[in-house]
Amino acid sequence: MKTLTHSKTSRSKTNPSRHVAVSRSIFTEIKKEHAEFRKAMKRITRVYERDPETAKIAYLDFQIRLRAHADAEEATLYPYLLEKTVVGTKLDDQVREGVEEHHLGNLLANELDQISPGDPKWKAKFRVLTESVEHHLDEEEDYFKRWRRFLSPSEDRLVHDRFLAARESNRKRALMAH
Ligand SMILES: [Fe+2]
Ligand SMILES: [Fe+2]
Repeated sequence: MKTLTHSKTSRSKTNPSRHVAVSRSIFTEIKKEHAEFRKAMKRITRVYERDPETAKIAYLDFQIRLRAHADAEEATLYPYLLEKTVVGTKLDDQVREGVEEHHLGNLLANELDQISPGDPKWKAKFRVLTESVEHHLDEEEDYFKRWRRFLSPSEDRLVHDRFLAARESNRKRALMAH
């Protein structure tokens, strides 16, 4: 028993293919990008104090990435989870709540697009968007503890790959539209 445990640990530390498999988790990928979003929101808030125009440029890049991320979740992870459950269960409620929080973020972002960065309203609305997005990221990560159980390792990798493809295509489409 002792030998088996030791052997398993050694493999996981030294086998590069195992490392690649671990990094192809949809949940790890999403959490990684959430951390980037948190940093970007802090940076935009900081830059706004000295240069609102530059903050707006950084915000536009952030917004494209955020929408590409949320739309990719709704095209890959969310429907995959909904297929595993029925209306009214905790999982179903959590996924649907995520969709509504994405919708709220999009509404705030659409309104922000209509305001000049020099207008004091921009700062107030961006702060509300930031609070709303931070709440969503924290809650989604909290739900991941439960959601992980619904995907086998191979399903996790499949959803991860689909998520990356959807996100890339969303980003390209948004950049072409600008
Ligand atoms: Fe997310
Ligand atoms: Fe999300």
